[in-house]
Amino acid sequence: MADNRADGAADNRADNVAGGEREQAPRGVDTTKPNISRVYDFMLGGKDNYEADRRMAQLALQIAPDAPESARANREFLGRVVRFLAAEAGIRQFLDIGSGLPTLGNVHEIAQSAAGGTRVVYVDNDPVVLVHGRALLAVDETTTVVKADLRDPDAIVGHPEVRRLLDFSRPVGLLMFAILHHLADDEDPAGIAARMMGHLPPGSYLALSHFHNPGPALPEVSKQAFTAERIFNETLGTGRWRTREEILAYFDGLELLEPGLVPLPEWRPDSEDTAEPGITYHTFVGAVARKPVAQTGPV
Ligand SMILES: C[S@@+](CC[C@H](N)C(=O)[O-])C[C@H]1O[C@@H](n2cnc3c(N)ncnc32)[C@H](O)[C@@H]1O
Repeated sequence: MADNRADGAADNRADNVAGGEREQAPRGVDTTKPNISRVYDFMLGGKDNYEADRRMAQLALQIAPDAPESARANREFLGRVVRFLAAEAGIRQFLDIGSGLPTLGNVHEIAQSAAGGTRVVYVDNDPVVLVHGRALLAVDETTTVVKADLRDPDAIVGHPEVRRLLDFSRPVGLLMFAILHHLADDEDPAGIAARMMGHLPPGSYLALSHFHNPGPALPEVSKQAFTAERIFNETLGTGRWRTREEILAYFDGLELLEPGLVPLPEWRPDSEDTAEPGITYHTFVGAVARKPVAQTGPV
């Protein structure tokens, strides 16, 4: 990990590390600029990050020292949701958009240990995720990784690899964890979520997590969210901490499952979770919803 002392030696060492890392980075990958999946990897304690990512992460940590706990809470939430969908809701195919770098507890591992043979397609627009994800392909022919952009939902649904693995006449678990907050308002994230769900049959599920700004109800948390939003936009060029109403709009026309849209550790917690008692987690929320199955009327 980089030394963040403000002296020249530390800076030189950081530059040397960055130079060495550039040589090892996959072709075409710019390691001089911070990148969403790698900053997140750093927060999770991973090793697939570079000096620019760690510098950005240090800035974020000054505003939100509990960011690593939030990132972990997000992965735990993802784990509970995937286990629920595979083991209890009978979902046998998952489309995980904005899947990120492989980490501890990947979707295909959780889903397939709950229900063998479950198919999983990972989608990300980051070439580094694709490079690391290919390692998964060697071990499991029911899992694949596709490079595509959420801002073009029709291209995702029409992608030959997606079509090869997923049957769109059967329910799909659509996972969009920590990605919609990287879409700007004018990219219409709620419209994109609706278009994605429009491609899936009744009985499909939408599960997501999202940065949250609680507004005047929690003024200190709201101030922190605005500051984090500014830093993310200045460094990564994206990041929107949305209001509860804006996030609920993603679920229009769907049946929200209990307990609704909540701070991540509050969604059906189980005993293995590591949520820290002193942290409010109000800046990161999530929910799961089901596309209604058409009711048959009385005969
Ligand atoms: C913070 S990571 C989340 C990883 C994982 N879903 C999780 O919650 O643990 C966000 C991921 O979304 C990807 N991403 C951001 N914008 C995207 C877009 N427009 N299309 C596809 N992937 C995108 C990033 O490359 C990154 O890997």
